[in-house]
Amino acid sequence: MRIAIVGAGNVGRALGGVWHRAGHEIVWNLRNPDDPKYADLPGEKRKTVGSGLTKSDVTVLAVPWSAIDDACAGIGENFGGILVDATNPINESFDGLDRRGAHSGAQYIKQLLPRARVVKAFNHTTASNMANADYPGGKVLSLVCANDEVAASVVRQLSDDLGFDTVVVRGLEHARQLEELAWLVITLAIKQGHGTDFAFSLLRR
Ligand SMILES: NC(=O)c1ccc[n+]([C@@H]2O[C@H](COP(=O)([O-])OP(=O)(O)OC[C@H]3O[C@@H](n4cnc5c(N)ncnc54)[C@H](OP(=O)(O)O)[C@@H]3O)[C@@H](O)[C@H]2O)c1
Repeated sequence: MRIAIVGAGNVGRALGGVWHRAGHEIVWNLRNPDDPKYADLPGEKRKTVGSGLTKSDVTVLAVPWSAIDDACAGIGENFGGILVDATNPINESFDGLDRRGAHSGAQYIKQLLPRARVVKAFNHTTASNMANADYPGGKVLSLVCANDEVAASVVRQLSDDLGFDTVVVRGLEHARQLEELAWLVITLAIKQGHGTDFAFSLLRR
């Protein structure tokens, strides 16, 4: 697949690195592709956020919540492709979530980009797990949440490519719960000293 990634921080870099090694074509949408910190990124780098997105099979938003309006404006309101929302609507004081009046951050993005096929995914496990999903005790749970079943199945494949145990959650209204789960992960990881090398897993029988 041809995958456009907006943002190449912890999350964008982890996802793009693994997908590149799995054989996908990565196009980075960066504000400053000449920044030396991006010199080692595999694949194509574009300066204008949004340029060429329509030629990609999937676009991934991996920017801080504070940049969401700016990034969505760059993508453009006519964008109608599959848009993976890996962001978390963390408030500025870093003590909770701020969805700007919407039911979830993902639905806020859908308000900004009404034609986008929004899929909430990769927001509720750490970037460390995206880069390396290996655990001795089982597979890392990855929830993929969307209204659009075709878009969900495309992103399910990308999640499987990361080595995750992928479960599709039908209905973008459930993105809110994925964001709460992420806030719990952030609380445990950063505020309560668990670090970034832990994951939730789903048991079945
Ligand atoms: N870190 C995690 O473990 C984790 C896990 C799951 C989800 N998330 C979520 O994923 C998102 C990204 O997190 P991160 O840790 O990867 O952040 P990060 O390391 O701070 O990286 C953010 C990236 O976004 C770019 N960016 C910032 N403003 C932008 C704009 N207006 N337009 C385009 N690009 C812009 C930055 O580029 P510049 O170099 O130009 O600043 C940078 O490449 C956040 O919403 C976070 O809550 C994080």
